[in-house]
Amino acid sequence: MKINGTHDDPVGIRADTRLLDYLRDQQGLRGTKEACGRGECGACTVLIDGRPVLSCITLAVRVDGDVETIEGVTAESAELRRQFAEHGAFQCGFCTPGQIVRGVALLRQGLPADDNALRAAISGNVCRCTGYSGIVSALRAAEENIAMADSGENS
Ligand code: FES
Ligand code: FES
Repeated sequence: MKINGTHDDPVGIRADTRLLDYLRDQQGLRGTKEACGRGECGACTVLIDGRPVLSCITLAVRVDGDVETIEGVTAESAELRRQFAEHGAFQCGFCTPGQIVRGVALLRQGLPADDNALRAAISGNVCRCTGYSGIVSALRAAEENIAMADSGENS
């Protein structure tokens, strides 16, 4: 597998090691959080080949692809973090790395035009604090700003 663009060949890894533990404990990538630990909250979301995956229910030995963690998603994540702050999209912050990683995946493919569809797309990432309105607004603002920056670069 690759982790955040660097080839990684896990040697001697136990067959039952979760990707979450491998990333946090053996790679020192502690931005990926554990909350429920059983695939129900999205706090541990990472991308594998661009798709959101729950690292708490994924075995590290099974991963064969490009893993991106919150530490590895860059351009979209910077804009999204700014917009999360701007729109009050977090309070305790525990769900936020997972929300940002999910948001990056959605921004790359293009957000659903309809807000209900966007809420459905982020519904696997549970937030107990914000009620999601700020998260939706932050995603919309990030998409707009990224598009404006892209059109500025291309003009
Ligand atoms: S910690 Fe993985 S889904 Fe909740
Ligand atoms: S900001 Fe607290 S759970 Fe989302």
